[in-house]
Amino acid sequence: MRKKIPASAARLGMYIDGFDTSWFKTPFLRHHFELKSQDQLEKIIESSVEHVYIDTAKGLDVFHHEHMRPSPTAPPKKSSKLREMAANDSPDDMTFTDYLKARDYLLQIDKLCLLEGAAIDFDLFAKTDMNIACLPLKNKGESIITKELLASPGELLIHRRDVQKYRDYLIMIAKDSGPALAQAASKNMLIKETAKIVIRDLFADPVSHEKMEACKDSVEAIMSSIINTKGLINNLFSVSKHDYYVCTHSVNVSVFCVATAFALGIRNEAELFAIGRGSLLHDIGLSAMPPEVLYKPHHRLSEFEIELLRGHIFDGLDIVNLFKGISPDAMRPLLEHHENLMGTGYPMGLTGDKLHVSGKIISITNTYDTLTTSRPGFKSLSPFEALAYLRDHSHLFDADILKEFITVLGKSSQPE
Ligand SMILES: [Fe+2]
Repeated sequence: MRKKIPASAARLGMYIDGFDTSWFKTPFLRHHFELKSQDQLEKIIESSVEHVYIDTAKGLDVFHHEHMRPSPTAPPKKSSKLREMAANDSPDDMTFTDYLKARDYLLQIDKLCLLEGAAIDFDLFAKTDMNIACLPLKNKGESIITKELLASPGELLIHRRDVQKYRDYLIMIAKDSGPALAQAASKNMLIKETAKIVIRDLFADPVSHEKMEACKDSVEAIMSSIINTKGLINNLFSVSKHDYYVCTHSVNVSVFCVATAFALGIRNEAELFAIGRGSLLHDIGLSAMPPEVLYKPHHRLSEFEIELLRGHIFDGLDIVNLFKGISPDAMRPLLEHHENLMGTGYPMGLTGDKLHVSGKIISITNTYDTLTTSRPGFKSLSPFEALAYLRDHSHLFDADILKEFITVLGKSSQPE
């Protein structure tokens, strides 16, 4: 079947069956070919082509066979395809693969950062379960954020080519947000969303010194905000109850760790920075993980895949060791985030007396953020349920640190 779709929705595996413009305005000699390389895809995205035609008999369809531009107020599907997969144990691997490819081009953004009435010049995508759809904005020029758009079900995402436009938008709202309180909120949103972008960039290119430096800047910004507000984390973290994104998780855990360390009385900036940096990088070893393994329901993982996933600790250490100037203290959160007081964690099975304070902190914050995030085969717990879980497993976690972490969460307004 021949379909006309926005150029931004093109992806690898589709069969291009023409463009909506004349031959000489496109970067291609042929107008009928399978999209096989990232290079081809980027040429389409960077060109002036607005729409392409695809032949779904010869290549992949649009995301999950959905219409590209549904009503933004359409209700979410009642059941999660991911959870169905987990329940049935018979995944539609082709659909799952398509979905993983689509995710790779998109960055989850925080809906709270979109202000009603503000102008944006980037595309927005809505994701509910495994359905991803481009929202009906103008293709060119500015669009205004409407109440209807903000009511779109699920999560909002942007295309990775629009990251700079999104950052420009965040800088603009941080400048123009009026009263001091709103300015502080906007500034923290900018810090958080920028941290998500830079950690995502580092995951895509984990040997880049430039990207590692950008992460360092983000940790400094997170730390300064927490010090200036005497431990508040309002608007510095995101609630990812719909789906797991490693960049969102990394930023959340880093914010929780710095704030908990501050609440414990740590005021030495070098110490706070090491905790923040190590916790932002704690899962960097997952950057080499095939997404098919990373997002597979846990109960369907083979022994080999479980070992592969557990290897992210030492893979992360190998990556971090490529860079000079990362202190041994900053390595501790990375090394110890899956350890626990009883010595039943991994990779070394360290007991409480051997764990660094940052290891004890991150074992709590990492578990909390993981429990409050949905992922294939797991429906997120509410913050209350996750804290109850931590309390019920108090033999694994340091009681004083857990108490301070609960206080940190209690003092901060939780985005919904
Ligand atoms: Fe991890």
